Amino acid sequence: YEIMPSLVGSEMCIRDSDIVVNGLKRLEYRGYDSAGVIVEGGDNNFELKKTKGKVADLVSISKDLEGTAHVGMGHTRWATHGVPSDRNSHPHLSNNGKIAIIHNGIIENYDTIKTMLIEKGFTFASDTDTEVLVNLIQYVMDTQNVDFPTAVRYALNEVYGAYAITVMHKDHPGLLVVGRLGSPLAIGIGEDEYFVASDASPFVEFTKEAIYLEDGHMATISLEKGIEIRAIVDNSVVIPEVQELKLSLEQIEKGGYEHFMLKEIFEQPKSIHDTMRGRLLVDEGIIKMAGIWDYLDKFTKAERIIIVACGTSWHAGLIGEYLIEEFARIPVEVEYASEFRYRNPIITNKDIVIAISQSGETADTMAAIKLAKERGAFIFGICNVVDSSISRFSDAGAYTHAGPEIGVASTKAFTAQLTILSLLALKLGKHNGNLSNVDFMRLITELDAIPKKIEDVLASTHDYVKNMAKDFVSASNFLYLGRGYNFPAALEGALKLKEISYIHAEGYPAAEMKHGPIALIDENMPIVIIAPRKGHYDKIVSNVQEIKARKGKVISIVNKGDEQVSAMSDYVIEIPETSECFSPIVASIPLQILAYYIAVYRGVNVDQPRNLAKSVTVE
Ligand code: F6R
Repeated sequence: YEIMPSLVGSEMCIRDSDIVVNGLKRLEYRGYDSAGVIVEGGDNNFELKKTKGKVADLVSISKDLEGTAHVGMGHTRWATHGVPSDRNSHPHLSNNGKIAIIHNGIIENYDTIKTMLIEKGFTFASDTDTEVLVNLIQYVMDTQNVDFPTAVRYALNEVYGAYAITVMHKDHPGLLVVGRLGSPLAIGIGEDEYFVASDASPFVEFTKEAIYLEDGHMATISLEKGIEIRAIVDNSVVIPEVQELKLSLEQIEKGGYEHFMLKEIFEQPKSIHDTMRGRLLVDEGIIKMAGIWDYLDKFTKAERIIIVACGTSWHAGLIGEYLIEEFARIPVEVEYASEFRYRNPIITNKDIVIAISQSGETADTMAAIKLAKERGAFIFGICNVVDSSISRFSDAGAYTHAGPEIGVASTKAFTAQLTILSLLALKLGKHNGNLSNVDFMRLITELDAIPKKIEDVLASTHDYVKNMAKDFVSASNFLYLGRGYNFPAALEGALKLKEISYIHAEGYPAAEMKHGPIALIDENMPIVIIAPRKGHYDKIVSNVQEIKARKGKVISIVNKGDEQVSAMSDYVIEIPETSECFSPIVASIPLQILAYYIAVYRGVNVDQPRNLAKSVTVE
């Protein structure tokens, strides 16, 4: 899985490579174990620099790129085939040195093709599937007497898997050939230049016009002929739809914060408000959701809702289950997308499948909804990235308008997902009569107050949590406990900590503790316990007593003015009170801050934790 921006432009090479390398910095959150750049140098030569490591390492070795270039492309990688190393970094060249490729995705039948190419005398300098594809393109050109774009098309018809590729040819200066299947690819249209990237962030300061290439399409891009899009399968012409980008530069920069993650934590009052804007109309006593307007009856007649997602989005899905079952009384099942797609699930046309995904590109979630659609289910997508693959594949959906989330650890997208799921559950409950008007009004008034409560919790807990985080820098394990709605919040708190600080952490339903994890508790074990007043408080008091009896170190998240749990806790984080069903939104904030500062004090790269990537477009 790899990411690339590329550029066709009329300027000098050094500017081109700067644009490409700066663009890579914007995409680095999606993969960052090696990076490379290639430009057309003088005399139709390629100038190629690539290295294991981050884009910063590439910057230091690519300063001396020279020549006049019209085309350049670069890549930042998250290794799939072959360890991160200089030789496995992209771009890759064909054996004759004439064709260069960058690739995001996996070519699943690369092994068979590689064997065939080796028999034909090809050699390979890397362990990647990508190098197989570029040599297949050369082989097609050598043997079939077709031009460069046609050879790319023929080769793409021979591979299966997922790809977004950009290809250059030495004998075709000023031309880029791109194609996609499964992995995203956006083309930016500048005044006298074109841009290609996995998303629009690398070129948003140069143009607001973009085309999102559809699956199974390829394009040739040159200043001479502009953009020509065709279907890979039969070369039929495709008329592109040019879209106006809503993304702004400010949204994708750090705005004075040390890390994107901290910026995104602090953005939550606004991102939650943006997610509710125009939908939650308290004065009118309604929830308006365009995405379900035409399908309300479909939802209320659904025999079952299945939520599919991965990671943090799966945790949001678990809370979605509680919300929808409580308020709309529709049975809900929540599935890891990766398990669902491979276990031959029973799905009927009376099912609604909700896919939750920040990126809208997660391969497992995408595959799960493809399977569900094939079997007749109606697909509802909850995505953050506008025009992402999952949002486009869904029959209907609702965007979480959280804005770009760049820190690898999901924060504001999670609380925006909870906001959408709350709106959905309340809307459905009101529509199908399971929620009385009085309760509906009470709950929407509560929900409306959440952004302000998040503002308060950020202001009142940040410094305290930042300070207490110092005491846990050397911890090697953590337990997170919660009950009811806050059990998934505990899972999410644990995931946040482990993914960015590399401290082992587990989330558990508080009552399950005595069935196993209690054996782990001693004076060295920090236990985060989410204990708002509304939500099985008395039971949690007993759980805390059990922990204290074993000398565990209790960090409690309680409502302001709490006495019982606070009295037994070593650290007390106070959050404002809200309805139980919205309490995970509020409780998640200090958990995010805690994970963030523990990771910062451990000297970890918070925005780019090891081995992770923001959008997981491989299985
Ligand atoms: C955790 C995290 C991941 C993602 C997961 C799904 O902080 O970010 O666990 O939640 O990879 O990604 P999306 O939501 O893009 O489908």
